[in-house]
Amino acid sequence: MCGIIGYVGKEDAVPVLLRGLKSLEYRGYDSSGIAVHNGANLSVTKRAGRLANLENALAERPIHGHCGIGHTRWATHGLATDTNAHPFVSSYGKFAVVHNGIISNYLAIAAFLRERGVSLLSDTDSEVVAHLIDYYYTGDVLAALCRAVSEIRGSFALGVISVFEPNTLYGVRKNSPLIVGKGDKSFSLCSDVSAISDLCDEYCPLENDEIVKVDSSDITLYDFSGEERPLSFLPTEDDHAQERKLGEDRMLAEIRETPLCLLSDYESFSDEDLGEILGREYRDILILGCGSAYHAGLIFQAAMREWLGIHVRGEIASEYLIRRDDADAHTLVIAVSQSGETADTLLAINKAKRAGATVLSVCNVRASSLVRLSDCAIITKCGRECAVAATKSYVSQAYDLLLLCLKYAEIWGKMSNKESCALREELAALPDKISEILREESYISLVAERAKDADAIFYLGRNADYCAAREASLKLKEVSYLFSEAYPSGELKHGTLALMDRGIYGVIVATDPSLVEKNASTLAEITCRGASSVVVTLRSLASEFRADYVIALPDTRPLLSSLISAVPLQLFAYFVAKARGCDVDKPRNLAKSVTVE
Ligand code: M6R
Repeated sequence: MCGIIGYVGKEDAVPVLLRGLKSLEYRGYDSSGIAVHNGANLSVTKRAGRLANLENALAERPIHGHCGIGHTRWATHGLATDTNAHPFVSSYGKFAVVHNGIISNYLAIAAFLRERGVSLLSDTDSEVVAHLIDYYYTGDVLAALCRAVSEIRGSFALGVISVFEPNTLYGVRKNSPLIVGKGDKSFSLCSDVSAISDLCDEYCPLENDEIVKVDSSDITLYDFSGEERPLSFLPTEDDHAQERKLGEDRMLAEIRETPLCLLSDYESFSDEDLGEILGREYRDILILGCGSAYHAGLIFQAAMREWLGIHVRGEIASEYLIRRDDADAHTLVIAVSQSGETADTLLAINKAKRAGATVLSVCNVRASSLVRLSDCAIITKCGRECAVAATKSYVSQAYDLLLLCLKYAEIWGKMSNKESCALREELAALPDKISEILREESYISLVAERAKDADAIFYLGRNADYCAAREASLKLKEVSYLFSEAYPSGELKHGTLALMDRGIYGVIVATDPSLVEKNASTLAEITCRGASSVVVTLRSLASEFRADYVIALPDTRPLLSSLISAVPLQLFAYFVAKARGCDVDKPRNLAKSVTVE
């Protein structure tokens, strides 16, 4: 996955594009580049590595122009080198192209172009696009673009400029997100509206198979055959992510925002957004997502089982994709995603929709592909999340899903009024309880400092605590590169116990009062074999555990505790990663939203 941006307007495009790329860096940070029309030619600068390398190169040899495109890359085809960095330019510098997505038939196009004498320099799937447009150019850029894109297969969002039209940029969308923004005296293109929110008052998300032509005075939308289409704009929304303190990592800043996010979620959760979907009966409910979003879905699954006695299927989107489909018109699919652009999740809901299912999404981006494909949506209110590790968005998703679960309990008469009021009150109290945990940061950082050289860290739990353990383990691996696995505590003795030894840490998530004895015996099982132990439990249960470290959480009800335990476990992952010298906001090999299968 990559981020693309384009700008045409009165300002010098280079600083504008660099600012946008900084906001898009979460989408990939293997290389970055910029191309501008300098009034006579296309000037291009691109560098492997972090954006700072591009900034240094531009400081040494500045380029200028009022119309340009930029790119930040997450390498999929070809290594992270200068040559493989975008933008790609066709022969004699006629067209420059940035691309997000995968061109699945690029080898066939490359062969076609080589037979016609075109030299391709990179190992990427993207370079062919610039040459193909050039090949079809006979005096009309739009016509060349239409011809080229109708031959390209796969998923792509493109930004294109040409030497022939100094103040015009083109954007193309097929299965990868692209937004066009309208500002006071400028227009912009971007993979993510929040990266251009300072540039535009209104924006329009492109649909699949659309081309947008943007010049200094107008925006025109076309389909792939060059027919004009109507354009409609949405107002840009405020991004209520907080300002970071100087030097504060995004991941830490985002964890600290969690109480505010939950407050907004609580206040804005409304049945009205869900329309008639709430009232309908379904034969089955399937919840799907990837990574942390899937883990949030597991909390919903546990709550539906424990509170309502209803079985919900939980599926990892990429697994659902390759399974025999048993969804139909009586299925409700709940798709969970922070970005709303995760390819596996989008493909999975398309599959379910083809089978006739109804789709409800839980998503953090209103303008995303997922929300637009869904029958209705719950928008999590955590503002923009930039760190690759999902933190506040995960808690927010789980929180909204618990509110949804409670709504179902009330509508289907599965809970007494007294019980549902008590749960609602406790959900309303969670933001304060999470704020209390955030005041324990220094203790969690001390525990993390001790654990940083562990040979491996196992996260153990039962029932909803096991769901929390899975998310905690993912967070640790992702940012600290330390080997970790989550395990249901009761399964330990069926094999994994063999690994418990000195140098191993066991983090036991033990928040359920009815499971104290079982959790205490798990603790004994690992410590007597020399493993170090951390127990995450409620204050009222803390004295039951003789562990090396005990992280005590404010008391709350089972299941809700798996939301508040997420926060110290995220902090633990963060501090372990910092102690190991890792770049927590940009972990190796990863990107924030995975828009390729
Ligand atoms: O944008 P999405 O929520 O659909 O992303 C899903 C996963 O890629 C994401 O949660 C990933 O697992 C996170 N990096 C985990 O911290």
